[in-house]
Amino acid sequence: MIPYEQELTVAKNVARQAGTVLREHYRAHEPQRVTHKSEKDLVTETDLQVERLVMDALARAFPEDSIAGEETAGVTRSGGRRWLVDPIDGTTNFVRRIPLFAVSIGLLVDGVPAVGVVYNPIIDELYWAARGAGAYLNGKMLHVTAITELAQALVITGFACLRANACPNNLDNFAKIAPQTLGIRRLGAASLDLCAVAAGRAEAFWELYLKPWDVAAGGLIVLEAGGKVTDFAGGDGWLTAPAILASNGVIHETMRALLQGGEPPA
Ligand code: IPD
Ligand code: CA
Ligand code: CA
Repeated sequence: MIPYEQELTVAKNVARQAGTVLREHYRAHEPQRVTHKSEKDLVTETDLQVERLVMDALARAFPEDSIAGEETAGVTRSGGRRWLVDPIDGTTNFVRRIPLFAVSIGLLVDGVPAVGVVYNPIIDELYWAARGAGAYLNGKMLHVTAITELAQALVITGFACLRANACPNNLDNFAKIAPQTLGIRRLGAASLDLCAVAAGRAEAFWELYLKPWDVAAGGLIVLEAGGKVTDFAGGDGWLTAPAILASNGVIHETMRALLQGGEPPA
């Protein structure tokens, strides 16, 4: 029996069900009704429908657990188990028909990620991990790369900071690091950015001002693929810190030495 086998089974099954809805709506001809949570933060009816589908399935399977979603109030229970649901990570990509978005489902046990499932339904890539049981993509075990030189590394970042009008933002980091790497990407879905590191498609990902539901599942998948995930101080506060750095481990300190920002608010 692998750890958290039932939780993984339920989360993978509901991620696939959510994926069916996401594919249908992505391919539908009528435009999505889009509302703004803030100037640059979009939400669609599909976000709400998928979040309800996932949260209902988790509540039926695990009635004693807390469940929180990005878009709607969840349920808080007394125990130490808490599900975090991002129904569409990459809503802007979804709305603009860029096929880089995912449903992300994470389980925290006493505040520590124990199960992570991320599903991109357009290219049918299902990532999963349970703490201590490895990380997988469509059943194939994942491992980060062994690239040690930044000049040979592909790195990924994002700009949640700009959406939050936060300061300092990530633009100085981008300008400083990009010229030193093989290449840099901004894909628009933090969960898939993290899964790219876990799958050995990139060597590092960093971003400021993400939310726990953006990173809980993907961060565990990186760790279980042999990578390293920290805040910018090198600590393990990445789930709630204003900054996350995920890497193949071997270039972690090189990246951390270059990154600024992400200090917790005073
Ligand atoms: C967003 C994506 C994006 C990141 C934003 C997140 P959402 O998730 O993960 O890559 O830069 O900060 O909010 O809002 O589409 O679920
Ligand atoms: Ca998100
Ligand atoms: Ca979202």
